[in-house]
Amino acid sequence: MECVEIRGGRSLCGQVEVQGSKNAVLPMLAASVLHAGISRIQGCPRIQDVYDMIELLEDLGCRVWWEGQCLAIDASRIRGWELPAQTASRMRSSVLFLGALLGRTGRARIPYPGGCVLGERPVDLHISAIKALGAQIEEDTRGIRARGRELRGCQVRLGFPSVGATENLILAAVLARGDTVIHNAAREPEVEELCLFLREKGARIRVCPQGRIEIRGVECLQDSRHTLAADRIVAGTYLLAAAVTRGRILLKGAPVRHMTGFLEPLAAMGIRMEKAGECLAADCRGKLQNIGFLQTMPYPGFPTDLQSPMMTLLAVTEGRSRIRENIFESRFKAAQELEKMGARIKIEGRDAVIDGVERLQGTRVEARELRGAAALLLAGLNAAGITRVRGCRFADRGYENFCENLAGLGADIRLIQ
Ligand code: EPZ
Repeated sequence: MECVEIRGGRSLCGQVEVQGSKNAVLPMLAASVLHAGISRIQGCPRIQDVYDMIELLEDLGCRVWWEGQCLAIDASRIRGWELPAQTASRMRSSVLFLGALLGRTGRARIPYPGGCVLGERPVDLHISAIKALGAQIEEDTRGIRARGRELRGCQVRLGFPSVGATENLILAAVLARGDTVIHNAAREPEVEELCLFLREKGARIRVCPQGRIEIRGVECLQDSRHTLAADRIVAGTYLLAAAVTRGRILLKGAPVRHMTGFLEPLAAMGIRMEKAGECLAADCRGKLQNIGFLQTMPYPGFPTDLQSPMMTLLAVTEGRSRIRENIFESRFKAAQELEKMGARIKIEGRDAVIDGVERLQGTRVEARELRGAAALLLAGLNAAGITRVRGCRFADRGYENFCENLAGLGADIRLIQ
């Protein structure tokens, strides 16, 4: 969807089924290359980032097909170790083919990854981690070239618990000789789920407390079928959509136990929530309290991927609040667009200082990245009058049927060419 028009002011009410996790499935798709056979992922979301990863897998010679909502990848025969720059540079997750191709073929040639413009987003931690396993890695203007026929397990301490670097290292270590121990690994649920996916394929991986992951290399992997967990960021986005319209929502299949870092501040604002099995009911009616200060942190802290949609909620919550973005150095792009809608936001270094207003005003705004697009769509749901959001293709990267689901919850929203 390129441009969306919203007539705001309607309180959302209803239920939505939470899609499978984008940030869990993307590393699994790269990991499927490690196995000369078939990997099935049940509950795979139909989103643009998945389609782009499928294109890369097919470029490598894999066969990929859908069986209903299950995605099957046959990586029996791959024709090389080089990713085409055109597709790969579109997304961040293409960098994970570095570890996967090295593990499978002993070689890899990939362009520097693309992805949302959230700051520099270097890959130094990925490279130093994989070098520790004995790979030779060279970089040039076109990207990264790696060789490593005989990767050997070792102890690696990450300088920062980078999600991607942790995942890349896991992929390179699964078929390496000997034991690898990762210290200061990312603890995000998506990393844990990647380890489960690989264990289901016969890998020997143990996720220990305190950010430690132990891997014992194996000779080969096996066919498998994985059931994908629900997307905690998508669940949080729908909850915030109900909150900015002071509505009510039932999130079916929400991964509540992975959402505490996000649900606690919402409860402190006065949103009433009730967990029933794999469902989460939220009642956002009435006046919400401001929370003053909030900062994004690695899991289990407040997730950076919900920072922009949360900014929209704080922009229409009375009082002054401050959000500190500790993960990415440039993730406040939505703020300038929200200000066009009447939001009062001041950026002070890593902080966004927000003075809540009664209600936003509809106008034309433009999204520049995935979670910023979600934040602007939520702003349109709240705003008086009509809001036109351009650049909604960014939302398509991570949200399946986003507009249809919002309409199903009562929003007056439609695509316009
Ligand atoms: C993953 O990105 C997610 N993407 C991001 O979600 C998420 O925001 C991020 O983790 C943090 O949770 C996927 O899983 C596909 P990082 P990733 O490596 O792996 C710096 C979304 O909206 N860094 O943990 O790229 C980096 O610049 C996306 O769904 C280095 O300095 O995140 C950033 O400041 C956006 N050197 C910080 O670490 C490196 O080698 C966190 O990055 C790697 C990272």
